[in-house]
Amino acid sequence: MLVDMRATHVPVLAGELIDLARPRAGETAIDGTFGGGGHARLVAEKLGSAGTLIAIDRDPVAHERFDELADEVAATSRFVQSSFADALQDLAADGDQADLVVLDLGMSSLQLDERSRGFAYSASAPLDMRMDPTQELTAAEVVNTWDERRLARALREYGEERYAARIARAIVRRRDRHPLETTDELVDTIVTAIPTPAQFAGGHPAKRTFQAVRIVVNDELAQLDRALPAAWALLREGGRLAVISFHSLEDRRVKRFMVDRARGCICPPDLPVCGCGRTPEADLVTRRAVMATPGEVAANPRASSARLRIARKRSA
Ligand SMILES: C[S@@+](CC[C@H](N)C(=O)[O-])C[C@H]1O[C@@H](n2cnc3c(N)ncnc32)[C@H](O)[C@@H]1O
Repeated sequence: MLVDMRATHVPVLAGELIDLARPRAGETAIDGTFGGGGHARLVAEKLGSAGTLIAIDRDPVAHERFDELADEVAATSRFVQSSFADALQDLAADGDQADLVVLDLGMSSLQLDERSRGFAYSASAPLDMRMDPTQELTAAEVVNTWDERRLARALREYGEERYAARIARAIVRRRDRHPLETTDELVDTIVTAIPTPAQFAGGHPAKRTFQAVRIVVNDELAQLDRALPAAWALLREGGRLAVISFHSLEDRRVKRFMVDRARGCICPPDLPVCGCGRTPEADLVTRRAVMATPGEVAANPRASSARLRIARKRSA
């Protein structure tokens, strides 16, 4: 499928998502990460006037984008401004059902490009990083109040940062003199904390710390852990769950969730007959994660780490 590259936000793996998840006329689709609406627009075009699109995002900027899209697509549509974990759980509790749930995880290019929000290590801005600007926890609070061990653990676990302990120590030393207030103060602290050769290897030296702090501020992994079962509960028979993730912490969770649902009997292999009675609930539409083509990565470097996985719900 060809994707219109003139759109302001270029959705990642969009052709693959549409070809494999196959939204159809009259279906109900939920986009849990509406962002700039790139995927939602393509999905809504397939749903047509008999279809329904439910868009979720916790960022009010996404709500503005949704209002523009709602006027242009034929499908019935509504926006829920909320975390996707809460929204999906609420929809399931209300008895809503869907044929497709899409999650395109992480931050949007709109958030990254809006310098004042503090997501980018390349721009000077207040240490914020909140997707929902009404939430209390900010990057500044994490960086200035978490104790050294907790900071180091977060950088190691969520950023897979090799120099987590050094960076955490440098942050604590610096904030003892004055609280860190801006992204460039954090970048400067990271750069001075790591050995000189590491400053020039493996991408920008602040990349992993920024990822870790962003995951903490937005509680991203707990959100995903709650959202996957809620999304699954919402799906009708034949419904598809499609998730695009951008780092191994997310992809591992998505893979485990889908593979677990596609697994039948879990009895020990030496048991002569099945005692668990478990049958697969899912078919894996993608046996392996689908990755962007070199052409897409060349046009949109963010796509290089994207992984798409899709599972289809079987009949009960
Ligand atoms: C990668 S962008 C999605 C881009 C979108 N697919 C598009 O084509 O424009 C991720 C979006 O999901 C939102 N988001 C991330 N985690 C969220 C969560 N737990 N609850 C609600 N929205 C979330 C972010 O605010 C951001 O707008």
